[in-house]
Amino acid sequence: MKKKGDRIYIFDTTLRDGEQSPGASMNPDEKLRFARQLEALGVDIIEAGFPIASEGDFESVRQIAKQVRGPQIAALARANYEDIDRAWEAIAKAAHPRLHVFLSSSDIHLKYQLRKTREEVLEEATKMVAYARRYTDNIEFSPMDATRTDWDYLCQILEAVIEVGATTVNIPDTVGYATPDEFGRLIAYIFSRVKNISKAIVSVHCHNDLGLAVANSLTAIQNGARQVECTINGIGERAGNAALEEVVMALETRKDIYGVRTGIHTEKIFQTSKLLTQITGIHVQPNKAIVGANAFAHESGIHQDGLLKEKMTYEIIKPEKVGISETQLVLGKHSGRHAVSEHLKKMGYRLTPEELNKVMTRFKELADVKKEIFDEDLEAILFEEVFRAKDKYKLVYLNVVSGNVAVPTAIIRMQVDQEEILDAGFGVGPVDATFAGIRKITKTDYPLVRYAVDAVTKGTDALGEATVQLRYNDHTVVGRGAHPDVIVASALAYINALNRLEWLKGNIKKVSIRD
Ligand code: KIV
Ligand code: ZN
Repeated sequence: MKKKGDRIYIFDTTLRDGEQSPGASMNPDEKLRFARQLEALGVDIIEAGFPIASEGDFESVRQIAKQVRGPQIAALARANYEDIDRAWEAIAKAAHPRLHVFLSSSDIHLKYQLRKTREEVLEEATKMVAYARRYTDNIEFSPMDATRTDWDYLCQILEAVIEVGATTVNIPDTVGYATPDEFGRLIAYIFSRVKNISKAIVSVHCHNDLGLAVANSLTAIQNGARQVECTINGIGERAGNAALEEVVMALETRKDIYGVRTGIHTEKIFQTSKLLTQITGIHVQPNKAIVGANAFAHESGIHQDGLLKEKMTYEIIKPEKVGISETQLVLGKHSGRHAVSEHLKKMGYRLTPEELNKVMTRFKELADVKKEIFDEDLEAILFEEVFRAKDKYKLVYLNVVSGNVAVPTAIIRMQVDQEEILDAGFGVGPVDATFAGIRKITKTDYPLVRYAVDAVTKGTDALGEATVQLRYNDHTVVGRGAHPDVIVASALAYINALNRLEWLKGNIKKVSIRD
């Protein structure tokens, strides 16, 4: 086999496939902020969305294409004129645009979903890649469900689309069915059978239904693939996609095995993972590799003893390498505007004077009730005050009575659009009463799917961070709220979920990649 270069291109699809995770919908401001973070992380290609899916998707992709100038910006399109035109319209102003065209290729999809013959699909794929090529010479083609496609037919499609101009051919394991050995053999087969394969980069896109997405991606690299499609925290359709942080850190930590490199600034991994959690409200499991809360925690006495003697005994990655540092005591009641602003800069956040004003107001309130303010507290404030989208509903005031002799009662004043409304709710406990009050004021009654409270830092004066997930027809939204008082945090989370739901209602996707 011809020797491949040692550079692996990281194609991040958190904003497209990742957003297909239940409850992970993001609004255009959030997507733009996350795209900027991906740029800082050093990803090569950002798949910004599926522009035909909704007005919201189109606008997000357009904004990212205009404002994020470093990486390539990809837009997804089914293999038809309308999708390709719309996708191009969204990315035309990008510094480095890429059209990503896909069409199913497995007999199962052809028979039951597309109701087309192999010949028809081959012709359509070729015709549509040739059409996309009129807009740009940066074309990626994905034969969807490639791993359940007849290998020779797959090679035939790849050869045909490369012939008409595809510069990247992506091999999706759409349903997460492949095993590492089999997937490695498929990639090697493609290299040996597709005559013009050297004219394209071979990419892989693995789903995690069997928990093998990262393993499959790594085996593909060993067999010549040079682009990996992945998402932060491994979010994505069903069980998710290959986790970017796991692929990158496996390549980095086991250079001796893989002998390749990426352009990722690994010390930004943790910050990126946290930003995604803050935006979507979807937490990573504590034992998740690389970014889970326990990924670098050593509980056993024997391990702790070894670590004290020599870190290498039980630590294969230095936490600093992925941007995890000891929780820092940063500021307190007497810290002024300059100190807060300088510290935020060190954390990577540059705020406008107006944004800093908002942060300072909340900072002073928090410092009055909490002696020590940690980085995590500052980030929670930042998220609440600066990053949050313009809201329909706002909490003005909350007073809760509860205890073992009182009927839990919440008196709430809220702003709904421009009007202030005061009302009360009753329940079996203070949170129940608060949610009942909010429902009354907002005249809403969406089913509650999940409610959870966590502490942002240690200690009883820690900021409480609440998560509320609500259902709307087939969709769910996740809201977050942080406050030293967990009932207030819960109210903020509920109201945040309602605001996100308002946005979602106006942006329900017209089509999905399964249509
Ligand atoms: O999983 C899949 O097949 C996809 C394609 C659109 C690449 O997401
Ligand atoms: Zn996918």
